[in-house]
Amino acid sequence: MTRVAIIGAGPSGLAMLRAFASERDKGGDIPDLVCYEKQSDWGGLWNYSWRTGLDDHGEPVHNSMYRYLWSHGPKECLEFADYSFEEHFGKPIASYPPRAVLWDYIKGRVEKSDVRKYIRFDNSVRHVTFDEDTEQFQIVAHDHASDTVTSDTFDNVVVASGHFSVPNMPHFPGYDTFGGRILHAHDFRDALEFAGKDIMLIGSSYSAEDIGSQCWKYGAKSIITSSRAGTMGFNWPDNWTEKPILTHVDGNTVHFADGTSAEVEAIISCTGYKHHFPYLEDDLRLITGNLLWTDGLYKGVTWQRNPKLFYLGMQDQYYTFNMFDAQAWFARDMILGRIETPDQATMEADSQPWHDRNAALADAYEEIDFQGDYTQHLVDLTDYPDFNIPAVNAMFKTWKGHKGKSIMEYRDWGFTSTLTGTQAPVHHTRWAEALDDSMDSYLVIGD
Ligand SMILES: Cc1cc2nc3c(=O)[nH]c(=O)nc-3n(C[C@H](O)[C@H](O)[C@H](O)COP(=O)(O)OP(=O)(O)OC[C@H]3O[C@@H](n4cnc5c(N)ncnc54)[C@H](O)[C@@H]3O)c2cc1C
Ligand SMILES: NC(=O)c1ccc[n+]([C@@H]2O[C@H](COP(=O)([O-])OP(=O)(O)OC[C@H]3O[C@@H](n4cnc5c(N)ncnc54)[C@H](OP(=O)(O)O)[C@@H]3O)[C@@H](O)[C@H]2O)c1
Repeated sequence: MTRVAIIGAGPSGLAMLRAFASERDKGGDIPDLVCYEKQSDWGGLWNYSWRTGLDDHGEPVHNSMYRYLWSHGPKECLEFADYSFEEHFGKPIASYPPRAVLWDYIKGRVEKSDVRKYIRFDNSVRHVTFDEDTEQFQIVAHDHASDTVTSDTFDNVVVASGHFSVPNMPHFPGYDTFGGRILHAHDFRDALEFAGKDIMLIGSSYSAEDIGSQCWKYGAKSIITSSRAGTMGFNWPDNWTEKPILTHVDGNTVHFADGTSAEVEAIISCTGYKHHFPYLEDDLRLITGNLLWTDGLYKGVTWQRNPKLFYLGMQDQYYTFNMFDAQAWFARDMILGRIETPDQATMEADSQPWHDRNAALADAYEEIDFQGDYTQHLVDLTDYPDFNIPAVNAMFKTWKGHKGKSIMEYRDWGFTSTLTGTQAPVHHTRWAEALDDSMDSYLVIGD
């Protein structure tokens, strides 16, 4: 029997398990599945941990999420096409759920799919190699429960270990003289730590925007965002200043490229993450930045140099859960032989227009259309349910507009599900005042 290994039980790895379960439930034959997950539970980044640094097994902590994290985009844009929020919660809920609510939703679908039995929890994949003679992969993993090392062979491997976990942490001169705390967004956990403090964040993307917003919401005294890209262009609160990139640090004084300086008590480096696959041998390892199109992957999924290997969720992300699903359904159908594996030249020729279009994208609106078109393309190739991607693209664009209008209020809006047609209710408390991010508090809506 064909054996398939899946590395990671986050949303992407779980999408892969769900794709096979959907085939199994229709009466189809599915391969022997083993999913390795280094944490003790599923959900990937959505499985919050207070830990930073190393976990209780001495493994690098995977979690980059923090307390009080609410969905960045509307939930209607990431809704699984085969499992609506309404089906899960039994009632309509508002559009920007906190982390715990989204984790519950992710878990609900896989609990119903009876796939937990395929997962080896507390198992860190150490090494993946491919034997050209047997055309099989060997996976060496550390089983922390028994503290033993296992070795198994597989016909296919699906890499779903995420790419927002290993910090990209630039050095700036004088860091070694700084009197406060310097941390990466990966290690940020609780905004209350910075209440009453003057803080600086480096970066101009989602982490800088959202961690700064969290710190503002929970009482930071002042916030500076410093970036090389220029301003983010939002109407920030009065105690939030945007600065060009810092040049150096001297004690607690940070100096910027325009010659100005400021005193801060903490520096949070929101400078993104690295695609990091220490367990993959060179020929199998994807090397890419955080882009909407990843070179080397046919249909953004299949490792062109060895099409028995698949990667899920490796792109930068507007679309998330439903795109991972579309990718998983595609990978499943290639593994099952339902979609044929083209030769190298055909795969490269197929990828080139996506690469070229990505390189020419002019703004966020074109990026949204690009990722929507990509997701639609995969949906069209498989039996993953169609979910009105033009409507999702439109919601993403409206969301961008709301952010532009009022960055501290965009999460107060509601959207309409493309699956159920239900308009999301307004949350009982505006985001800026909603200090309780528990699931109990959030689900009070609609009662
Ligand atoms: C701070 C932050 C906030 C975000 N907020 C949102 C949001 O609001 N909305 C949204 O849609 N997306 C958000 N995202 C994007 C996020 O990437 C996706 O939602 C999603 O978690 C990606 O799923 P994944 O399965 O690809 O990766 P992950 O969620 O990272 O899961 C990967 C899994 O692989 C496991 N793993 C890693 N290495 C190994 C190994 N060697 N052996 C075994 N297991 C391993 C990990 O333990 C983990 O469980 C956010 C990301 C970050 C960093
Ligand atoms: N739910 C939420 O609210 C939430 C919150 C946080 C993060 N997220 C998710 O997390 C993911 C990652 O977001 P991210 O913001 O961490 O990473 P990111 O989108 O990759 O952005 C990285 C940022 O770091 C800057 N940077 C990189 N290297 C730098 C250097 N050497 N010097 C100065 N600046 C540097 C980049 O600037 P340049 O543009 O100049 O390269 C960019 O602004 C996203 O998918 C996002 O959706 C979601």
